[in-house]
Amino acid sequence: MKSPRLAVSLTALALALGLSACSSMESTPSSAAPVPKDGELAMPANYTAWPVFMAGIQKKEAKQIRDIYVNKAGTQAKAGGPFPNGTEFVMEIYSVKLNADGTPALDASGNMSKDKLSKVFLMAKGAGWGASAPAELKNGDWIYTAFEGNGTRGAADQSSCRACHLPLADKDFVFHYDAYFKQRAAAAPLTPMSHTQALAAAHTAY
Ligand code: HEC
Repeated sequence: MKSPRLAVSLTALALALGLSACSSMESTPSSAAPVPKDGELAMPANYTAWPVFMAGIQKKEAKQIRDIYVNKAGTQAKAGGPFPNGTEFVMEIYSVKLNADGTPALDASGNMSKDKLSKVFLMAKGAGWGASAPAELKNGDWIYTAFEGNGTRGAADQSSCRACHLPLADKDFVFHYDAYFKQRAAAAPLTPMSHTQALAAAHTAY
C-alpha cells in the first residue's frame, strides 16, 4: 500500500517541478478528497425515500425478497447509456416467513412475504473510484459495500460482488437494467400535453 505521506510528498514534488499543467495530470482531481474503495462507503441516509428501481423481487431458492432503490442522480441515466457518476443503488435483502418445515410460506398468489431485513447492499460510482479494483475484477467505476440488516458494515468479501456483476459490462454492471428502462418508458406520458389541452383538462376536472 502506498503511504499517504509518500503520495503527498510526490504531489508536492510534482508541483515544485511545475508538472501540474502537464496533460498527464489533467484528470487528477484538484480537491484532496480521498477516493473510496470497496467496503468503505457509509449507508446512505433516507434511501427508502429514493425512487424505487425494482421492488418485491422474489428469490425463491435463496428464500429472500429484494427491494432496490436508486438515488436521483441515477434516474438521469438514459436507456442505452451508463449511469452517471454520483449514482447509488441500495438493495435491501429480506428473509422470508417460513413454514414449520423450513420452506417459504406462500400466500394465495404463490408469493413469499417479508420477515426481517437481513442485508443492505450498496453499489455507487464516482470518477476514478474503480481504480483500486484488481484488473480482472474491474466493474467500471462502481464500488461495493455490504451492510448487515442493523446498518453495521458487513464483513463481506466484496470481490464476490464484483465477480457476479462483472459479466454485465454492456448493462453498466446493473442486473435489472433492461427491465428498469422498459418500466420507465411504459410509465412516461406518451406525448406531453399542450398548454390548451392542459387548460381543458383542468377545466373539465371541476
Ligand atoms: C451470486 C451473484 C451476486 C453476488 C455475489 C452479488 N450480487 Fe448484487 N445482484 C445480483 C443480482 C442477480 C441482482 C439483481 C437483483 C435480483 O434479481 O436478485 C443484484 C443486484 C444488486 C444491486 C442492485 C442494482 C442491480 O444490479 O440491479 C446492488 C446494489 C447489488 N447487487 C450490490 C451487491 C453487493 C454490494 C454485493 C457484494 C456484497 C453483491 N451485489 C453481490 C447478483 C449478485
